[in-house]
Amino acid sequence: MTTATPTTVAELVCFNPACRARFEITEVLYNCPKCGSLIEASYAPLTEDAATLRGTFRERRMSNAPLDVSGVWRYREMFPFLNDYAHVVTLREGNTPLLEAPQAAEYGGLDRIAFKHQGYNPTGSFKDNGMACGVAQARRLGMKRVACVSTGNTSASMAAYAAAAGIEALIFLPHGNISFGKLAQALEYGARTLEVEANFDQILALVRVLADRLGIYLLNSMNPFRVEGQKSIMLEMLDQRDWQVPDWVVLPGGNLGNVSAFGKGLREAKAAGLIDKLPRLAVVQAEGSAPFYEFIQSGAKEFRAVEKPETLATAIRIGDPVSWPKALNEIRATLGVVEKVTEQEIADAKAIIGRCGIGCEPASAATLAGIRKMTAAGVIERGADVVAVLTGNVLKDSDYIYKYHTGKLEAPGGVKITPTFGNQSVVVPNDADKIAGMLG
Ligand code: F0G
Repeated sequence: MTTATPTTVAELVCFNPACRARFEITEVLYNCPKCGSLIEASYAPLTEDAATLRGTFRERRMSNAPLDVSGVWRYREMFPFLNDYAHVVTLREGNTPLLEAPQAAEYGGLDRIAFKHQGYNPTGSFKDNGMACGVAQARRLGMKRVACVSTGNTSASMAAYAAAAGIEALIFLPHGNISFGKLAQALEYGARTLEVEANFDQILALVRVLADRLGIYLLNSMNPFRVEGQKSIMLEMLDQRDWQVPDWVVLPGGNLGNVSAFGKGLREAKAAGLIDKLPRLAVVQAEGSAPFYEFIQSGAKEFRAVEKPETLATAIRIGDPVSWPKALNEIRATLGVVEKVTEQEIADAKAIIGRCGIGCEPASAATLAGIRKMTAAGVIERGADVVAVLTGNVLKDSDYIYKYHTGKLEAPGGVKITPTFGNQSVVVPNDADKIAGMLG
């Protein structure tokens, strides 16, 4: 691993504009000790100009140095929080493709769409971008144990990076509400896995208490270094487009860490001169777990959590998203919008993404479902340049897929999902004539 000492000054800053208390970058903080708001990483202005930076990022694609091969650390000037890159453990995260999908564009009411597919990451989701940074900071701080609560993807990602870094991983999962593929990953990567009889929001509160009491480093998305890593998703997307800014970036919203990271990354890219304008961010939530949508829609002053969030898209089954203040800031900064979609809309959009030969997990498909709604409503124009972020791999929730295609999928509450684009396997006898007759 190449080791270099960053020169830019980094610190932690309270996110609340009325407080902005500043702390050493090495403090273990998830909330401001003065006012309780979220914390973010902040840096002195860059010394390199935009053309130099763009050139450096591009040159690194030809390098075999692990730090350059990483689709996160390739953009390290944009999050210079480490004092020594020897702390980095990389599994070749990022490097995810931008995929054109004409059939999905048609379904979504667009001329064109490109999917930035984070499911191509080493553990199958965008969490790897954030975890690469979170675990590097854990190592730098000398942490022996890291923990997270997760509906699946965060746990698989943290387990893998902690294992690679030689740190013990503690995973807290909502009992009965996890994807078995993801649990399998966590077990395989050697994480200590606890299934708690509570929902995501309740377990997050529990884990915060335990982290404080036992000195465990928390790697959920209120960890500011997770957010730093997830900024690279936008940087890589812009790099792949030769820094041409799309009109819209559409993503699913759960705990709202990702939209916070995207907005911060985009604003900082603009401040560095890498781009000349901001795309509009569109966050899509599942109807039964849409507190952010309701908050924006109602214009209320108080954020109201959904007490019993429901959706088959387990990754976004979150009723009390911790990062909503940051997310609100990014929606305002980018003139963004928030939409919600039904279980049926998610399921059908997911099948269409599958028909493109791409595939994704249910939460990711909320993007295309939301786009279809927003083009119909005239919020997004047919000719708009749209990038939708598919956050997770098609192999998550494979029972969901099977049930959809066989007409057995039911939304929470027991409402049947219609397999509009269903595709079933057929049992045939071991008889060439009969099969040939069937296939024509
Ligand atoms: N998409 C996928 C595939 C996810 O796994 C998640 C979050 C989200 C979207 C929502 O992102 O929280 O940043 O708004 N999954 C978490 C987990 C909850 O435990 O893996 P967000």
